[in-house]
Amino acid sequence: MEDRIDGDRLWRRLMAMAEIGATSRGGSDRQALSDEDAAGRALFLGWVEAAGCTWETDEIGNLFVRRPGRDNSLPSILIGSHLDTQPTGGRFDGVYGVLGGLEVIETLNDRGIRTDAPIDLVVWTNEEGSRFRYSMMGSAVWAGKLDIDTARDLVDGDGISVGEELDRLGWAGKPADSNRSYAGAFELHIEQGPILEAENLEIGVVTGVQGFRWYTICLKGNPVHAGPTPMNARNDPARGIGEIVTQVYAMVAEYAPSSRATFAQFVSMPISPNTVPEELRCSLDLRHPERSTLDEMDERFRQIVSSVCGAVGVESEIILDNNSPPVVFSRKCVEVVQEAVTQLGLSNRQMVSGAGHDACYVALKHPTSMIFVPCDQGISHNEAENISQEQAEHGASVLLGAVRRIAKTATA
Ligand code: GLV
Ligand code: MN
Ligand code: MN
Repeated sequence: MEDRIDGDRLWRRLMAMAEIGATSRGGSDRQALSDEDAAGRALFLGWVEAAGCTWETDEIGNLFVRRPGRDNSLPSILIGSHLDTQPTGGRFDGVYGVLGGLEVIETLNDRGIRTDAPIDLVVWTNEEGSRFRYSMMGSAVWAGKLDIDTARDLVDGDGISVGEELDRLGWAGKPADSNRSYAGAFELHIEQGPILEAENLEIGVVTGVQGFRWYTICLKGNPVHAGPTPMNARNDPARGIGEIVTQVYAMVAEYAPSSRATFAQFVSMPISPNTVPEELRCSLDLRHPERSTLDEMDERFRQIVSSVCGAVGVESEIILDNNSPPVVFSRKCVEVVQEAVTQLGLSNRQMVSGAGHDACYVALKHPTSMIFVPCDQGISHNEAENISQEQAEHGASVLLGAVRRIAKTATA
């Protein structure tokens, strides 16, 4: 059998999913545990049930779809990604890996192919971490790296908790069986960066993921009137944050080209133009592929915060919200993907992912790797995010090849 999925069906479904939470600039807004996220899952489950699969959710709402194998006691094959999006997200980040996974199941169904081992297609809860600030939250709970109570207590900007939303949507099931074994796990995704397009390549065979840490920086000053209070008589968190941003960018530049620093989610309290803020918070996302360098950047960032705040006269607190160490994927799974790509005759290279993925937590427990396809100008986390139907078809066909290789397939 040639490993080719049905590109038309996959594209139709990608476009149908993009209608849910569609934004005015052509993207999608289906933030984790929102009504739109639920509507996306409902659409997906209609296809899943029509494809003869069963499904269940675990305690954090991760959705596991099963295509039974001949022997369901065998270690299964895990594929999938996430359906939640950034607030101004694109149409492919995560969705492509889920619908590409479903396309693998549909293709096996169409061709009457049964596998010995079952295939589990997963939709992880809150991969993005933008509404509830914990990236890859569902897979972290599943992998035992985030306590369920801590996850349920995470709140969004309106004070609504993950637990409340899980209960409202009826998503919380029984805890996943942590002893279940998987023969291999594969996450299909868009690259979200510029490398494949720049090198005119069709597939990225992903060998690992760079590490990242998310922090909340909280500066506390003294709220005083913006008019009468002389500049030298203020304890102004905004002055502190300005210095911190400048110095952290300069520090991170010393570790170029692989280092990254992103400041976002700035909030001042009180929200007033003519009062020096009493408190100012923002997020920082620091990344590097090497753990020792990330440690060094972490230490230097903390020194910068402490010295700037001392000089400006404000108090500081740093909260570590997420710590995702660099990941090296299983050699076996990387080889399986490489063989599938080679068999299809697609141009490719091996690469490390710049973005975090649920595959990072999966890889802690089971042999895992990822498949990337290029995206237009490497743009992602943006409504303009785009891939072509042909690119979508290529990546999902590679996923099919990888699944078939690991599943010991046979025609029924
Ligand atoms: C995942 O979306 C990440 O932040 O890398
Ligand atoms: Mn993603
Ligand atoms: Mn994302």
